[in-house]
Amino acid sequence: MLEIKNLVAGYKKGPDVLHDVHLKLHEGEIVTIIGPNGAGKSTLLLSIFGITNVREGTITHGARELTGLSTDEILRSGIALVLQRENVFPQLTVLENLETAAWTISSRAERESRKEEVLQMFPMLRPHLEKKAVLLSGGERQMVALGMALMLSPEVLLLDEPSIGLAPKVVQEVFAKIQEIRASGTSILMVEQNAIAALNISDRGYVLELGKNALEGTGKALLNNPEVGRLFLGRGK
Ligand SMILES: Nc1ncnc2c1ncn2[C@@H]1O[C@H](COP(=O)(O)OP(=O)(O)O)[C@@H](O)[C@H]1O
Ligand SMILES: [Mg+2]
Repeated sequence: MLEIKNLVAGYKKGPDVLHDVHLKLHEGEIVTIIGPNGAGKSTLLLSIFGITNVREGTITHGARELTGLSTDEILRSGIALVLQRENVFPQLTVLENLETAAWTISSRAERESRKEEVLQMFPMLRPHLEKKAVLLSGGERQMVALGMALMLSPEVLLLDEPSIGLAPKVVQEVFAKIQEIRASGTSILMVEQNAIAALNISDRGYVLELGKNALEGTGKALLNNPEVGRLFLGRGK
């Protein structure tokens, strides 16, 4: 579905941030990328979305090469990204946020039907449709961000730290929703600090360190890997 090979990427004229990175996301999978701060996890997601400067390597979505395409073209090819922060328009209402996210759909009827489908997945947003996003709780705002990404029925959803800053109970709600999104047919590639919760619901995972692939395996294998435990899960040496 999505395959990254030998990726070297950075920002503008800055140094390479990613060095020879590889990653695969198969259809129907949830795959999680973990790694210390500054490892290049966000940069990897931004590279898929055409926002960084890709210097070497390939990123393919099905048969399509994404490197060199504009973000607009990548979005239209069926990939959506939820950013780590500032992923909703705070001064727009929930409804306006959802509608704005559907800007590439020219048919009004289709936009309406997408909105209905998204609201079926996020019924907790219905009572808040006319409310400005800034007035929502953190969890509700994250649901709006997920809903916005789903307005275009993406095949692949990229999520940058979807649980950041949320209370533990809300984190569980967001992870449950991510599983529901996968069940509805969207493959998911996410970056998470909350390694245990994320690997628990992931088919596979990758550890990124200093812009390089460090480890990879099934979610379960990584959870049980002593090195992952020591580095990321707070288990002793
Ligand atoms: N917009 C940017 N411009 C220049 N350098 C950046 C930018 N964003 C991130 N970086 C640099 O890229 C490296 C990796 O950052 P990032 O991908 O955000 O790491 P992570 O998401 O794993 O915490 C860091 O050295 C960071 O300073
Ligand atoms: Mg990041």
